[in-house]
Amino acid sequence: MKKVKLAVIGAGSRGAGYAEFAEKYPDRLEIVAVAEPREYNRSQMVEKYHIPKENVFSDWKEFVEKEKIADGVIIATQDNMHTEPAIACARKGYHIMLEKPMAPTAEECKRIITAAKENKIIFAVCHVLRYTNYTKKLKEILDSGIIGDVITMQHIEEVGWWHQAHSFVRGNWSNEKESSFMLLAKSCHDIDWINYIMGHKCQSVSSFGSLKHFRSENKPAGAGNRCVNCVCEPSCPYSAVRIYLKNFFDKQLTGWPVDVLTPVVNRENIIAALEKGPYGRCVYECNNDVIDNQVVNMFLDGGQTVSFMLTAFAKGGRKTRIFGSKGEIFGDSSELKVFDFLTEETTVIKTNATDGTILGGHGGGDYGLMDNFVAALAMNDHSKILSGPDATLESHLLVFAAEKSRRENTVVNL
Ligand SMILES: NC(=O)c1ccc[n+]([C@@H]2O[C@H](COP(=O)([O-])OP(=O)(O)OC[C@H]3O[C@@H](n4cnc5c(N)ncnc54)[C@H](O)[C@@H]3O)[C@@H](O)[C@H]2O)c1
Repeated sequence: MKKVKLAVIGAGSRGAGYAEFAEKYPDRLEIVAVAEPREYNRSQMVEKYHIPKENVFSDWKEFVEKEKIADGVIIATQDNMHTEPAIACARKGYHIMLEKPMAPTAEECKRIITAAKENKIIFAVCHVLRYTNYTKKLKEILDSGIIGDVITMQHIEEVGWWHQAHSFVRGNWSNEKESSFMLLAKSCHDIDWINYIMGHKCQSVSSFGSLKHFRSENKPAGAGNRCVNCVCEPSCPYSAVRIYLKNFFDKQLTGWPVDVLTPVVNRENIIAALEKGPYGRCVYECNNDVIDNQVVNMFLDGGQTVSFMLTAFAKGGRKTRIFGSKGEIFGDSSELKVFDFLTEETTVIKTNATDGTILGGHGGGDYGLMDNFVAALAMNDHSKILSGPDATLESHLLVFAAEKSRRENTVVNL
């Protein structure tokens, strides 16, 4: 296989994580350029991948102005900063791996897909759940017909209490105007995965949801504005001191989410971030407006139904039940339990394959996506991409329809 050359646009948590594929498989991938405004993140990439000076940029615009210097790009800027670099890179002929969500509006998503198709590039959206061993195994089971015709599905995304507080109350995805709405930011993955697993188009969708808990009126009496000086801190499950110091740093866990607070992770810097930065604020006094619970119901073109729930208030993880005419499946993103109506026996299949690195993230999906994207470029083979333009646009449009239903209190027919 040809060795692939990639540029990274946005060397934050995700961009730097995907780039690690080059460290693990240097014979398959080389990171040849980086565009990143944050000096620390940029220099880390330069050092790690020996990127020559002339290929180091502080903005994606400088990168696209130059002649083509790589086979493709990883675009991992924030949600509302995907459209322009994606269209510019497509026009320049770069193959693209674009972080989800593609963009915060349907119109922008369509513009990106049009640019990708017109320029005939290999285009993948980072719907990493499609690339896990768990998903592969589940697909195999469904295709084998063991549970007969699939009639209905129930899927839940437990964001998790502390993850909600970190990303969607205190963090980058807490405010719709600054990023995108919750169903798009967190669960475009789930809606896309449901589409992929069910293999049928959604005809009608309805949704309800609200920001129920993380509101100023729920702040306990006497609580402070920062956890470091709050009398309620010891009894608050959302304490930033407990989350970042006790549950991560003190357990020698210094990667995500702690490295979001400070690029150089040590006790002193974390405490300074808790005292002054956004991640030390009381969860009831943040500029957050994205929902913390939502349900989505779908009616598919084969008569099947799906019910999806997203909630902050759980331990965390994705769980699914699929009900067929001959049996049912329960999956927790790692293990699948298949119950057969005829034999009344349950078969347990373990599928988890994470290796503990960032590439092991999302049940191995981060690795699976990079593996497929790099192979697709090396062999010029679009078929390696499981999250290409058409499938991704379809599931993004479904997310926009569900959100329209929630806001307008109506059923949306697609
Ligand atoms: N696929 C997944 O499962 C998954 C998981 C988490 C996040 N995401 C998505 O990945 C994207 C990135 O998330 P993240 O957590 O890495 O964010 P991040 O903030 O850590 O990284 C974004 C980077 O983009 C850089 N940037 C800003 N302006 C730029 C410019 N003009 N040119 C080049 N770079 C620029 C920032 O400095 C930052 O380092 C988001 O869209 C997010 O929703 C996807």
